[in-house]
Amino acid sequence: MRLMIIAGGMRHPSGSRRAADFVQQKVLENQIFDRIDLLDLGQTPLPLWDEGVWRGDEKWKKILDPLRKRMQAADAYVLVAPEYNGMASPALKNFTLFFDERITGHKPALVIAVTSEAHNGQYPVADLHAFGAKNTKWIYIPDHLIYRNIGQLITENLQMTDTLLRERTLFSLRELALYARALEQVRQNHTFRPEFKYAP
Ligand SMILES: Cc1cc2nc3c(=O)[nH]c(=O)nc-3n(C[C@H](O)[C@H](O)[C@H](O)COP(=O)(O)O)c2cc1C
Repeated sequence: MRLMIIAGGMRHPSGSRRAADFVQQKVLENQIFDRIDLLDLGQTPLPLWDEGVWRGDEKWKKILDPLRKRMQAADAYVLVAPEYNGMASPALKNFTLFFDERITGHKPALVIAVTSEAHNGQYPVADLHAFGAKNTKWIYIPDHLIYRNIGQLITENLQMTDTLLRERTLFSLRELALYARALEQVRQNHTFRPEFKYAP
């Protein structure tokens, strides 16, 4: 089983990247997935979607062919969603525009919201859970995590100071792996119907 972590921050370095690195370390240490890939949208930003994507412009092919392969190869996703102005980052919302169900469909996704503040973090979860899965057709698992006070919560050497949240992170990642295995059956028995590709 292969996991793809998408760090949705728009800066580098960022709190989202630190959260993504922490998740990667925990997955490897505990062998929750066999393989792992990490994309940091702050380090390698994706241009904003434009019409050239549909035209298949060379510029976009160069960017999207390798990215779509990486997303296709994954069995599950962790979306690390920083809170920007009370919502998920525009980079992460833009990211969802480049995939359809043939790449991301019927694969489970865990949202981890990240904030530097003590009380926020619920908006990116609500934003992603409510919007952005209609065409990707990835499936949010019931769990989500909120990493508040990110600078103190995860130290520079990737130690999480909140032991209960560390345990919950492991629990949620294991749940994600269970869904990844279970949804494999759905993908194997599923028929792609282009006429329903954009259906609500
Ligand atoms: C453009 C921008 C807007 C932000 N808006 C919010 C916000 O509305 N609520 C919040 O809790 N934190 C906000 N933050 C702070 C982030 O929570 C903080 O930067 C955190 O580390 C996650 O973002 P990062 O991955 O860019 O580091 C904002 C940060 C940026 C760069």
